[in-house]
Amino acid sequence: MRKITSLLLAVFLINFISAQEIIPKSYSNFILRNDSLIFVNQSGIEVPQMNTRTKYKYSDFVANSTGTEKGISFGFNNKDFNGYMFFGLINYEDAIYAYPVYQYRKLQIKNGKVEVNLNWLAGKYDMIDWEINEKGTLGYRIIDGDGQFVYDGIVNFKGTGPFTVAPTIIEGPFLSDVKPDGVTIWYKTNFKVKTFVTVDNTDFYDENETYFHEFKIKELESNKEYSYSVTCDDFKYSYKFKTAPKYGSDEKFTFAYASDCRAGSGSGEREIYGVNAYIMKRIMALAAKEDVAFMQFSGDLIDGYTNSKEDINLQYTNFKRSLGAFAHYTPMYVAMGNHESLERAFPVMGTKYPLMIDNFPFETESSEAIFADNFVNPVSDLHSEDGSKYDPDKKTNDFPSYKENVYYYTYGNTAIIVLNSDYWYAPLLTHYPKTSGNLHGYIMDNQLDWLENTIDKFEKDDKIKHIFITQHTPAFPNGGHSKDDMWYSGKNYPRAVVAGKEVKKGIIERRDEFLDIIINKSTKVVAMLTGDEHNYCKLKISDDMKRYPKEYDKDKVRLNRQIYQINNGAAGAPYYAQEDLPWSEYTSGFTTQNALVLIDVDGDKISVRVVNPDTLEDIETYVIK
Ligand SMILES: [Fe+2]
Repeated sequence: MRKITSLLLAVFLINFISAQEIIPKSYSNFILRNDSLIFVNQSGIEVPQMNTRTKYKYSDFVANSTGTEKGISFGFNNKDFNGYMFFGLINYEDAIYAYPVYQYRKLQIKNGKVEVNLNWLAGKYDMIDWEINEKGTLGYRIIDGDGQFVYDGIVNFKGTGPFTVAPTIIEGPFLSDVKPDGVTIWYKTNFKVKTFVTVDNTDFYDENETYFHEFKIKELESNKEYSYSVTCDDFKYSYKFKTAPKYGSDEKFTFAYASDCRAGSGSGEREIYGVNAYIMKRIMALAAKEDVAFMQFSGDLIDGYTNSKEDINLQYTNFKRSLGAFAHYTPMYVAMGNHESLERAFPVMGTKYPLMIDNFPFETESSEAIFADNFVNPVSDLHSEDGSKYDPDKKTNDFPSYKENVYYYTYGNTAIIVLNSDYWYAPLLTHYPKTSGNLHGYIMDNQLDWLENTIDKFEKDDKIKHIFITQHTPAFPNGGHSKDDMWYSGKNYPRAVVAGKEVKKGIIERRDEFLDIIINKSTKVVAMLTGDEHNYCKLKISDDMKRYPKEYDKDKVRLNRQIYQINNGAAGAPYYAQEDLPWSEYTSGFTTQNALVLIDVDGDKISVRVVNPDTLEDIETYVIK
């Protein structure tokens, strides 16, 4: 009887822990002690989890306003916060891309509190007629005491005094997954509310009151411009989108490519907590002016590298805010980089950087899950690394999901395959393989198989003429990441470790398998669009190109044709200069200027224009097919 009781107790305890945080079987050398996660290092020393940088949190700053007798009072949750606020009205009638026009006043935020008196924006400052309409929209900017920009917010108000804060779209509306017969429209509101979207005289309603709103619009005509509106409470906004041409159509179109807009140097809008919002705004404006069909942005949207979900969510909000009014018209697809990283960290004696692993429970708290929470991307049939030959338990989920971080989409005669080369990422794995995890730049088995199958599918599909592959890390780094990406200074030993066991293939072997698939097993892949290195350059990858370290004892792969690697990590993160690498003579166009890559697809032909979004200077133009 006693035995049964203790057995029941054990089962109960395991269930309790599993509800809280069961250690995934894919990791190694971790234990739970009093609900705390402990890493047991090679000397048997128990290292408890530590907190990493969490300066600001989402809930400290976003949607914390109330109406008052005179205006709007902001009570930020961070009561120690002292800084400044700029504010101004937004006139949606006046511009296609509406932004706040800041008034001359600079308000002091004391102990997390500040109030905007709306009468300051009356009379000669009322360009939106809020005094007549008894409603309006205020934009505001929060800056901390050190001059660090923290958040650009937006809030709807009603009344002429007293005022109330009304439901407001605080992120978006955004467009994604644009198809010949539809598009997805999504946005976030400050309150849980029901809203609706109108396309072509049809209304699409939220089913429930919610913060996150997503509408899959279907049954539209191809290659057609549609007006759409979003109605949130008494506020209605009108925008436009264009559906994709018919599947397989040779209709000419342009798409934009960039990556790495995480915070740069130079303060101000170049570093709005986690994001270079200045360059991102210039990129979006240029993409809109070029009337691009869509924008592909492949990783390092934010600084990331935090163990706080609240911190990373504020940074993601700042990225989405930086896309501004342009994203209401231009569909966006985003990929993960190494900085989209929500981690559990453990201090390492004598080193500056802690040891880190991807956060868990994977289903709700991993870097991949939080990325999927923050964006709407297409979903593929690739699930995770579960089921691979390294899966430690076929019955349990031991890896994060690939949902919305590995996928493909098509536009006319072109397919874009989006990969995640920072999946289940453990940043210092090469130094501390004991934890298990995956490497920066390493594509694990299931993802590689999925890539091969997806390419095979498009090779057999007569409607598709061109394929682009995009992943954050270049196969051949040129400036800034020669010590990692898919090169690791020419060392093959770095590789993923699963449940304490190293996988068979090293990074250079894996790079070769990757190249074999996209070059030798494909006739349609024209280019790899990469980032991570904060510069622009192009590389002609061919069999002539030197690409192995001096004494390399593994099989070398022959390349039967040529493709381009177009690297554009020049969206605003701190720059890297060019390094000397075996393939440097094949690299051209290298620049540390900010850049936007514009790819013109015209039937069988593909050409590339590279433009500095800041100065609008042409960087280079070339034909790739
Ligand atoms: Fe990166």
